[in-house]
Amino acid sequence: MTRDPAAPLRSVLYVPASNPKALAKIGTLAADAVILDLEDAVAPEEKAAARERLCAFFAAKPDQPALLVIRINALNSEWGSSDLEAVKACRPDAVLLPKVDTPRDILAADDALDEIDASKRIGVWAMIETPKAMLNIGAIAALGRDRAARLGCFVAGTNDLAKDTGIRMTPDRRYLVPALSQMVMAARAGSLAVLDGVSNDFRDLDAFAAECREARNMGFDGKTLIHPAQIASTNAIFAPNPKELAEAQAIVDAFADQPGKGVIQINGRMVERLHLAQAERLLAGDKEGNEQP
Ligand code: COA
Ligand code: MG
Repeated sequence: MTRDPAAPLRSVLYVPASNPKALAKIGTLAADAVILDLEDAVAPEEKAAARERLCAFFAAKPDQPALLVIRINALNSEWGSSDLEAVKACRPDAVLLPKVDTPRDILAADDALDEIDASKRIGVWAMIETPKAMLNIGAIAALGRDRAARLGCFVAGTNDLAKDTGIRMTPDRRYLVPALSQMVMAARAGSLAVLDGVSNDFRDLDAFAAECREARNMGFDGKTLIHPAQIASTNAIFAPNPKELAEAQAIVDAFADQPGKGVIQINGRMVERLHLAQAERLLAGDKEGNEQP
């Protein structure tokens, strides 16, 4: 695997490990990361075959730039220990844990991974998709500050969250947005990356692009995807656009011209040193700097 760990996480595509055609496509796709799914996209009777396909995929040493993440079944499920064996064989960049409820779930996974990966090279990502996770989200995110823990990313599981809460998935997502914002807030407090949930209607790319823009404005690093057709617009929308880059450069230049100042104005807009820091991050390619209306 050749990927730079500091690279962005804009487009993150789920690929069912049970689908050989989809697995074969991975090397041709421009997704920043791929989540190879052993959980909900794989029917119970397909689990064993999917695990074998997954191991064959990793054994072939795919030479592609995407980060490779395996979504396992819950460790306390009937498939948990076999999935962990597959992780041991595959050595992905990270393991995505489904149905996380409490910090204890993350710590249990951390301990289980320590048995097979003492050097802690394999990261942990957490699905935030249960009402309990929403109530415990601050404590879960705080593990991101623990350098000994592996936690690196929250993934919004909006389909499960809607199922378990009764939240209606309206096209404008107005009833989901408060939960999504909580995820962003907690992730930032824990220095975690955070990814928006999937858009199920993969044929409606206009609605999808609007959802991506909303997610970016909410502070998400990127979006989880279900279909290759969703990758290109995700990468474009979550990347800094030329207008944003030009504005950032103007801020950097203005402060360079007025080095002693704490606050200046550019075209009638107040600009403080905190904006300078944001602009510098944006120019450095850091997604945290992408604050736009
Ligand atoms: N990853 C990689 N390739 C994919 C893909 C994915 N997620 N989804 C579709 N493809 C491939 C198909 O295999 C097909 O390949 P082909 O051109 O070689 O035949 C091509 O893209 C076009 O696919 P299409 O016919 O438009 O869709 P489909 O009916 O094959 O699949 C879904 C539709 C929804 C079943 C499929 O996109 C999918 O399984 N998505 C992921 C679901 C998932 O993981 N859910 C769990 C998390 S929410
Ligand atoms: Mg789920």
